[in-house]
Amino acid sequence: MQDIMQDKNEKTYCLINYGCQMNESDTEHYAGQLEELGYKPVSDYHGADVILVNTCCVRESAEKKIAGKIGELKAEKKRNPECVICVAGCMAQKDGDKLQKKHPQVDLLLGTAYVNDFKQLLLDYLADRKGIAYTDLTIHQSEFEGHRVRQSSFAAWIPIMYGCNNFCTYCIVPYVRGRERSRSMENIVEEIEAAVKEGYKEFTLLGQNVNSYGKEFGEKDAFANLLRRVNDIPGVERIHYMTSHPRDMSEEVIKAVAECEHVCENFHVPFQSGSSEILRRMNRGYTKEKYLDLIKLIRQYVPDAAITTDIIVGFPGETEEDFAETMDVVAKVGFTSAFTFIYSKRSGTPAAKMDNQVPLPVKKERLNRLMALQNENSLREHEKLIGKTVEVLAEGPSKQDDVWTGRSRTGVLVLWPVEGKEYAVGQKVNVVIDTAQTWLVKGKALD
Ligand code: 5AD
Ligand code: SF4
Repeated sequence: MQDIMQDKNEKTYCLINYGCQMNESDTEHYAGQLEELGYKPVSDYHGADVILVNTCCVRESAEKKIAGKIGELKAEKKRNPECVICVAGCMAQKDGDKLQKKHPQVDLLLGTAYVNDFKQLLLDYLADRKGIAYTDLTIHQSEFEGHRVRQSSFAAWIPIMYGCNNFCTYCIVPYVRGRERSRSMENIVEEIEAAVKEGYKEFTLLGQNVNSYGKEFGEKDAFANLLRRVNDIPGVERIHYMTSHPRDMSEEVIKAVAECEHVCENFHVPFQSGSSEILRRMNRGYTKEKYLDLIKLIRQYVPDAAITTDIIVGFPGETEEDFAETMDVVAKVGFTSAFTFIYSKRSGTPAAKMDNQVPLPVKKERLNRLMALQNENSLREHEKLIGKTVEVLAEGPSKQDDVWTGRSRTGVLVLWPVEGKEYAVGQKVNVVIDTAQTWLVKGKALD
């Protein structure tokens, strides 16, 4: 969505996205709808005709940053009263018209269920210019129509299901994204086939809990079947998916990953805590032992799998012993990378009311210890690649001159010197790895 030469009469839009891949994907759909209405993208919101902020509320830190951005738009509304300011996504869903009362510059507030309706709702707003909040969560749209304006020219996000039924006690997502609903396999395959025709090669199937895909269709192993079906689409080179819930990850899915040539051998399985007691209070539905058994099963079918995870430190009541269990899982599994979070109290969730909230300095200190251990692991996992040839899809030049970057099938960031050769975005390059660092590996491209 880069700036282009602007004709003065041309209508423009600026999208500001926060949060997870699902939000990025929704933003690509907002862009598609704006372009259908003739709007052109700009990267600076000053002077844009439509400004849309797609929001996240999973942690307080995200919310604070976003509130600052929305506040900033007050001055823009003053300068350019004709512009339409839209706030969409999880924070819009959570706060509803309260957010609009606090920030009267927000014209159109869209909860998470209205992504497909955006075009019509914008036209409705332009007809009468009455500020409005849409927050009904029971509108269950799951099939996708229209088109997305994607950020990447070769890698595509493909939502396969929306919402979450798990109600982990710390998590706000089920309250702001509603109940689980899946797209039909035909609708998903259609979108992927169309994207292949446009040159897309790499597909990430998205959902808050992809292993529950298709449960409402009553189909056993629907997600494994979907992986196999997408694997058979000609032109699809790489398939990833996220996020998996350890409780719902079935042997059938692991088998499908092992057997399908294009499904990449990386598993993102958030364990959140290594303490079975904390897991119980998180309502996660598995124990430390069960999680480690799952890792064993993954390694049995896919010995070279890269396993990544999400971890929360400082859940209410987490003791030093509980935290030691988390460190133990990290030490035992050898994750390629981990997203580590300080527990953030989300009002309305059961954990927010639990006793023994952990003081911030303790949470920070635990996070530091956890990150130090994981950094050692990341480096060790990356060192295992030295001397190996990895298949990389080229993403573009790095900040450094004469060096290109891309990702391996397992998602590791790879850098290699250009050495006078020409590369294209999305091109497959084989790189022999010679250097490992915590966040990336480096090597030389083979001809
Ligand atoms: N505090 C901290 N981290 C959280 N996550 C979800 N809710 C919270 C919270 N209240 C983390 C989980 C999840 C990831 C997307 O965000 O680790 O897997
Ligand atoms: Fe939140 Fe748990 Fe659902 Fe993930 S599975 S979105 S952590 S409630």
